[in-house]
Amino acid sequence: MNDLEGLKEQALKELESVKSSEELQQVKAKYLGRKGILTTALKKIKEIPPEERRDYGRRVNELKSLIEEKLREKEEEVRRRELEEELSKEWVDLTIPLKNTVGSLHPLTLTLERIVDIFTGMGFKVEEGPEIELEEYNFDRLNIPEDHPARDMQDTFYVSKPGYLLRTHTSPVQIRTMLRQEPPIQIIAPGKVYRRDDDPTHSPMFHQVEGLVVNEYASFRHMKYVIEEFLREFFQTDLPVRFRTSYFPFTEPSAEVDIGCVICSQEGCRVCKETGWLEVMGCGMVHPAVLENCGIDTEIYQGFAFGMGVERLAMLLFGIDNIKLFYENDIRFIRQF
Ligand code: PHE
Repeated sequence: MNDLEGLKEQALKELESVKSSEELQQVKAKYLGRKGILTTALKKIKEIPPEERRDYGRRVNELKSLIEEKLREKEEEVRRRELEEELSKEWVDLTIPLKNTVGSLHPLTLTLERIVDIFTGMGFKVEEGPEIELEEYNFDRLNIPEDHPARDMQDTFYVSKPGYLLRTHTSPVQIRTMLRQEPPIQIIAPGKVYRRDDDPTHSPMFHQVEGLVVNEYASFRHMKYVIEEFLREFFQTDLPVRFRTSYFPFTEPSAEVDIGCVICSQEGCRVCKETGWLEVMGCGMVHPAVLENCGIDTEIYQGFAFGMGVERLAMLLFGIDNIKLFYENDIRFIRQF
């Protein structure tokens, strides 16, 4: 019986000094576990003289209840303290400005928006067409003959459905627009295009912006003005621009547009291959055969068209030397714009 008094004091003292849930578990096991002191004491009841058993059993059970109750109290206290500690360690300062976590637009999006803004400012409307396109619109109606190298399997991604392909340029949107709409037409068509091409300056998917103007008086001079204005607005400088004779099946005459190298200011560098000039787009007067393929009366109407590569313009605008950077979505790259 005196043992039980001593035990009670000892247990309460141990419980009082508990500081963590681990210590608490240890104390719990020590007294109430399967081989715990109180469990063993209850089993010893058989060794107690019969007349004392009743009293002994009651006292052990009372002590057990007391310890259980103290354990619950202590558990509550320890849990609260541990939670507080954790919260004070992991607290978040909600007043820190979010400056560094705000996203930014992708450089290609910025470039596309810049192009679209300039042309809509000149009165162009924006048109779109599908990326899976009819071969007929991508090639035939654009006056690209069956044996033209652009049709080669090397350049074009064909899809399993006969007569369809991934458009190789945005020029089929010219066809779609002219088939749907009477002149006057003054549109640009931004979008994704696909070619079997892959190196530091070419990607199998890239973006173009097409331009098309059809009315009664469109001329090469008008086209030249629009393109020069666009380029100077885009690069925000009074750049040298030149039109170099070229060939496209869907324009006649055709030209390629060069700008003075924005990297070296025409001193000669790796990007302009020491020429001082950079090719930035193709253009020309819409071939009469193309107008006729779309039911437009060539006695009344004429037009001009142009097409530019968005990645190319973005690389020149921001001084980026590898096209792959646009598609890897490395946050350290994207964040700079
Ligand atoms: N479609 C041509 C290309 O992808 C560019 C172009 C468009 C040229 C319109 C002339 C007129 O290279």
